Amino acid sequence: MEKMNLVSGMRSTGKLHLGHYMGVLTNWVNLQEEYNCFYFVADWHALTTKFDKTENLRQDKLDVVLDWLACGIDPNKSTIYFQSKVLQIAELHVLLSMITPNNWVERDPTLKDMVKILKNKDGDTSDNAPQMSYGLLGYPVLMSADIMALNGGVVPVGVDQLAHLEITRDIARRFNNIYKTDLFNEPKPKLTQVPLLCGVDGQKMGKSFNNDIKISDDEATTAKRVMQCITDRSRARKDDPGHPDKCEVAFKYYQTFADEQTVKQVECECKAGQRGCADCKRQLGAIINEKFAPIREKRIELQKDTDKVYDIINEGNKKAVAEAEKVMQKVRDAVNI
Ligand code: TRP
Ligand code: SF4
Repeated sequence: MEKMNLVSGMRSTGKLHLGHYMGVLTNWVNLQEEYNCFYFVADWHALTTKFDKTENLRQDKLDVVLDWLACGIDPNKSTIYFQSKVLQIAELHVLLSMITPNNWVERDPTLKDMVKILKNKDGDTSDNAPQMSYGLLGYPVLMSADIMALNGGVVPVGVDQLAHLEITRDIARRFNNIYKTDLFNEPKPKLTQVPLLCGVDGQKMGKSFNNDIKISDDEATTAKRVMQCITDRSRARKDDPGHPDKCEVAFKYYQTFADEQTVKQVECECKAGQRGCADCKRQLGAIINEKFAPIREKRIELQKDTDKVYDIINEGNKKAVAEAEKVMQKVRDAVNI
């Protein structure tokens, strides 16, 4: 039986962090066996909010792909490409925009959140702050085009993306109804199971919050960052008994990155007041460094030969174009254009 197409993308935010690794990339790597995977850098989507900050866009796109490859996304199994190199996606986006009622996108809660964040950044919290562009409003429509142009049946996403995907399913159904066809299936979300990894300050991990650890950070940077992890705030001295369940970040990282036995040992020693937080975090830093050492080595190797990486991307672009063109020929026929 032929494998089903799986489509997923990431905006080109630059170097990825451990939250991306745990929450998305390990999942993507595993899915490569079961599905025909199309993984792309959503550079058009990046422009929906960062249209005026494109100085680093090309480097950011490359950095994302370097992280993917280092973490085990395999170009022999999956198609890796840039969204903006598949013009069929833009073509489908135009066609889908014609059949998408305004209120479907206007009530998308994830989009509303994005706008709120944008407004707050510029210090303008009024309702009519002019940050909602025509392009940003179309975010879920473009995302639908990403998926539908590649004939995606499955889409691994986080919960925050479910609202967008619901619109995709509605649009696919509406297209089929209007043009009396069964061309599109309704793509199914595949939720990421892993709980979100928090940043060293206990908030959501993110580049803009300056609380992240990058996959590509070196050992010294990582160790330093881990020392900033929040621990049990009620603990004053290192021989006070600690509470791992109230240790906001450090112990959570142990549970994520250390083996079971180590987690148990840390828990016992902490509760018994036999373990100082500084030492505990030093050990944690070493564990994280050890885990990411092979990935970082591979990334450094890849970075030495970016021509080869661009070859991989160009190859992927071609494959994605071929797949999307197959779909678009049927779409043009269905629409009679
Ligand atoms: N909106 C997604 C995000 O911010 C990225 C994305 C764009 C995407 N197009 C997609 C994800 C298509 C899955 C499928 O994470
Ligand atoms: Fe957290 Fe370790 Fe400190 Fe216990 S000893 S509170 S687990 S950092």
